[in-house]
Formats: sequence, structure tokens, C-alpha cells
Amino acid sequence: MARNSRQQLITFEELDSATELTPSEQATWQAARDATDQAYAPYSGFHVGAALLLADGTIFKGTNQENAAYPSGLCAERTALFGLAASQPGHAPIVAMAVAARPSHGEFGAAFPCGACRQVMLEYESRQSQPIPLLLPSRNGTILRFSTLATLMPFNFSADDLPPA
Ligand code: THU
Repeated sequence: MARNSRQQLITFEELDSATELTPSEQATWQAARDATDQAYAPYSGFHVGAALLLADGTIFKGTNQENAAYPSGLCAERTALFGLAASQPGHAPIVAMAVAARPSHGEFGAAFPCGACRQVMLEYESRQSQPIPLLLPSRNGTILRFSTLATLMPFNFSADDLPPA
């Protein structure tokens, strides 16, 4: 191993079932699954839902929204975050986030946010004073629980990397 090589550990929990989640996490988890019914995914046939639990107890949902001009669509994670910020400026802090995904006519499977969504998720976390815990369905049917979105994207780009405006 080179003298200057480094490693970074990722810490998360792996749960066997949603029954191991707290009641508010369960509500967020279920909201993400329910949201998949509202996805507009005629081109991929991949329905994604994202749910944001706010400190006031409300849950804001997003879904993927596709377009015939394929790159014009947007992922569920970003419609949720952008939708919340656009419609409720000054909203209560986000205290949990969950994502769910399933084929148009199939069972729920893994839902791992894409890189662009991770970049956006991190900025929303940094805009509020507290970390955003995240629940993701894994590829083997377990639930991955991260205590902060920052875990998902080390070495991310941030406003700190921009020159002063
Ligand atoms: N998609 C999401 O909504 N979230 C992700 O993190 C990954 C992908 C959507 C985008 C597109 O509508 C469909 O899933 C297939 O890529």
C-alpha cells in the first residue's frame, strides 16, 4: 500500500424489516412506497418515490417525472426536495428521508439515489442546522439507515469550493 494511501469508512445500519424502524420512520418509509403510485415513468417503467418527514410531523412526497425528451425528466429525490423548498420556503427542518422504487407492475426493490441527487441532497442538509437521516431499501431486501446524508457522498462539491461571489 502506498505510504500516502487513505481509507474512508462509511457507517450505516442494516435492518431486516420495517418493523425495526421507529414509528415516524415507518410512516416516512411507507409514504415513499405510497408515492411510487404517483410517479410518471412511462419510458423507464421504474417508479420511484421519495418522502421527507418534517419536524412539524408533516410528510412531503416526490416522484420521478419523466419526459419524451429523456434528459428533461427528474428523479424522485429531487422533485421532493425542490418541491418542498419551492412550495414551502421556511419549512420545518427535514428530520427523515426515505426512498422507494418498483417496476410499473412489480415488487419493491432497491432504491439508491443517483449521484446528481446525492449532490442536491447534501446541499439541502447543509442548509439546515441538523443532519437528515436516510432510509434506503437495499438490493437484498434489507433497510439501510444512514444517520446523515453526508455519508452518501464523500468529496462532494459544495459552495465552499466556489470563489466568493
Ligand atoms: N430515478 C429516480 O427517480 N431516482 C434515482 O435515484 C434513480 C433514478 C428515476 C429516473 C428515471 O425516471 C428512472 O428512475 C429510471 O432511471
